[in-house]
Amino acid sequence: MQKVDVIIIGAGAAGLMCAISAGSRGRSVVVMDHANKVGKKILMSGGGRCNFTNYYAEPANYLSKNEHFCKSAMSRYTQWDFIGMVEKHGIPYHEKKLGQLFCDNKAKDIVNMLLEECSEVDADVRTHCSVEQIKKQDEGFLLITSQGKWQCQSLVIATGGLSIPTMGATGFGYDIARQFGLKVLDTTAGLVPFTLTPHLLEQFEGLSGTSADSIVSCNGQSFRENILWTHRGLSGPAILQISSYWRPGDSVGINLFPDIDLLEHLKERQQSNPKSHLNGVLSETLTKKLADRLCELWFVDFYKKPLAELSNEQMAAVAEQCQSWQLKPTGTEGYRTAEVTLGGIDTDEVSSKTFEAKKVQDLYFIGEVLDVTGHLGGYNFQWAWASGHACGQYV
Ligand code: FDA
Repeated sequence: MQKVDVIIIGAGAAGLMCAISAGSRGRSVVVMDHANKVGKKILMSGGGRCNFTNYYAEPANYLSKNEHFCKSAMSRYTQWDFIGMVEKHGIPYHEKKLGQLFCDNKAKDIVNMLLEECSEVDADVRTHCSVEQIKKQDEGFLLITSQGKWQCQSLVIATGGLSIPTMGATGFGYDIARQFGLKVLDTTAGLVPFTLTPHLLEQFEGLSGTSADSIVSCNGQSFRENILWTHRGLSGPAILQISSYWRPGDSVGINLFPDIDLLEHLKERQQSNPKSHLNGVLSETLTKKLADRLCELWFVDFYKKPLAELSNEQMAAVAEQCQSWQLKPTGTEGYRTAEVTLGGIDTDEVSSKTFEAKKVQDLYFIGEVLDVTGHLGGYNFQWAWASGHACGQYV
């Protein structure tokens, strides 16, 4: 039987940060992960460059049944604290856009930094370690693992969500929560591309790879970013963002001309250039391929006429369709490609200060396994760092 102060299950973003935070207080820490490598999602994130935080991270960037839950941890470990650690390790980084910070080189720089910090505080990080059983004892827990029996005072669950099962994601954290009588809210895939009906896919055939700067809206939320046509449907940052607010059956509103009043613009062009054609005017903003296709699909009756011959009603219809396009996705690509999991362990069950379960002394939950989900843009890692750090101060 091996004894240690703190066992953290899950060597991802939140688990490693918690190990650093607890280890720096002199606690003996073991981090156990069943995968063959630590931080796999960090390694694959941000296209291999890890969008590790965001200059503008704040509680409004998170979805949760309790929108206040994330505030305490986020204020105790901010993006500036994490940037400080990145700079201390001399890792070059840059802002790509919208406050999103990426490594100049590789995401591995972030994993190496976390492992160096773990090693400085003597936290023992183990891979290939599966946890078979967890038993509550009078004080702390007994764990039966593929690497023997362990006893700990504090047990932290940092096993993340369900997205990308091929990267080691499991429902383990939810199972443990249920084992100890904690409520787990329904989960769904978030930050995920939409799938479309076969009919719509046929209409958009050949547009795969085309993108358009748009405002996308659903259920009272809007995001302005690119949307991207794919072989399966629609993706791109604006679509990923709105997918977290979309529910099956909902339509999504898309404004393909976010900078102009399209009706006014068409009227102006009708005056200044009466011989021009609708697809030509639309392709001043959209790619020619997209403008041509949308004209064939939506305005087939009149788009070949010169603008001078279009009625006000026809131009109003064009503006309405292009600026308030209502699209009904059939679904999403699901956990296979989702960046995050919405829902999870009900935050009512956990202290927002310590992350200890209110009903089970010495049991803690951090990171994505909780019902806290960030927008796209480095916010999810910031939640992992903040919750991991806060919890590490109390285990
Ligand atoms: P995380 O998933 O990081 O770690 C959980 C760990 O637990 C894993 O190492 C896993 O192997 C382990 N584990 C699971 N079950 C276990 C079990 N039964 N026993 C032992 N170990 C177990 N966010 C962001 O802010 N910026 C970005 O650029 C991106 N990019 C991105 C790309 C892609 C493709 C994905 C899928 C996700 C992102 N994200 C992101 C989201 C981000 O990766 C995610 O929110 C955090 O990694 C969550 O951190 P956690 O530590 O909670 O879980």
